[in-house]
Amino acid sequence: MRAPRRTAISAAIRSRTAASPGSGPISSTPFRTRSEPLPERRAGAFFGRRVGKPLKPSQQAALTRHLPGLRLDPQTPPPVRAAALFPRPVERIQLEIGTGGGEHLLACAAADPGAGFIGVEPFVAAFAKGVQALGEAGLTNVRLYDDDAVPLLDWLPPGQIAEVDLLYPDPWPKRRHWKRRFVNPDNLDRICRLLVPGGLFRFASDLPSYVDWTLATVEAHGVLAWTAETADDWRRPWPGWPGTRYEAKALAAGRRPTYLTFRLPAQDDRPAQDDRKDRAEGGRPGGTTR
Ligand SMILES: C[S@@+](CC[C@H](N)C(=O)[O-])C[C@H]1O[C@@H](n2cnc3c(N)ncnc32)[C@H](O)[C@@H]1O
Repeated sequence: MRAPRRTAISAAIRSRTAASPGSGPISSTPFRTRSEPLPERRAGAFFGRRVGKPLKPSQQAALTRHLPGLRLDPQTPPPVRAAALFPRPVERIQLEIGTGGGEHLLACAAADPGAGFIGVEPFVAAFAKGVQALGEAGLTNVRLYDDDAVPLLDWLPPGQIAEVDLLYPDPWPKRRHWKRRFVNPDNLDRICRLLVPGGLFRFASDLPSYVDWTLATVEAHGVLAWTAETADDWRRPWPGWPGTRYEAKALAAGRRPTYLTFRLPAQDDRPAQDDRKDRAEGGRPGGTTR
């Protein structure tokens, strides 16, 4: 059965409340704390907060102890093989953008010790929480990056990531802020570059306008194929889904999440680069989305 059109999912979600608040190179760079200035932001995809309350002593201790062996550094020469970033051979690599406190990433890493996991989270307090939990769990199949995902995506070698997860990204619910959303044609290019043929991009959100935005942007980008065949495919979470912290909040507030899975087709099935460009330019976000 063919996947329903975007309008079908839009209709399905329209009844919801549309409100939401908004042996590779490992870095030895020490983690920045609140007292140290952050570098000026370069152009990228992060518009949120990096620093909040001071870290608890236990979090600071966890960073000092565990981070040097875990942190990836896009300032170092890029790896030829992403698998070499892990201390043991990995069967596949999964990358999560915006891990928050790392609850989902760590649950996946514990459930699949043969795979390698890369988590990216620029918000210092959330990142520190994840590092602390990771240290306590003793998992060795996780690597982390504590800033905007964009430089890391550009640094990783092409065609070696089995799955990219973007789970409850910052919603930017106001129309004038939609351009800040992580899903945009440039970031879709980045994600597509990283994926293995047949690799997955998974997106979850409780905000209908972001779901529509993502469907429209992916469709206009013209490379990834939405895999949904029935409504259950976007209404039900993925098998073995451990949930996330934001999802728990959304459910508690009575909002219904949507789960989108997109697949990178095998090389031969992809449209030519020029066609993609034309379509992306004709369908830039903002015009096609409510
Ligand atoms: C709404 S929270 C969701 C956290 C987690 N995924 C969850 O579901 O509980 C979105 C997270 O994405 C992070 N984020 C925002 N922009 C980002 C970017 N450009 N690169 C990496 N992470 C980003 C934020 O710091 C924030 O922690």
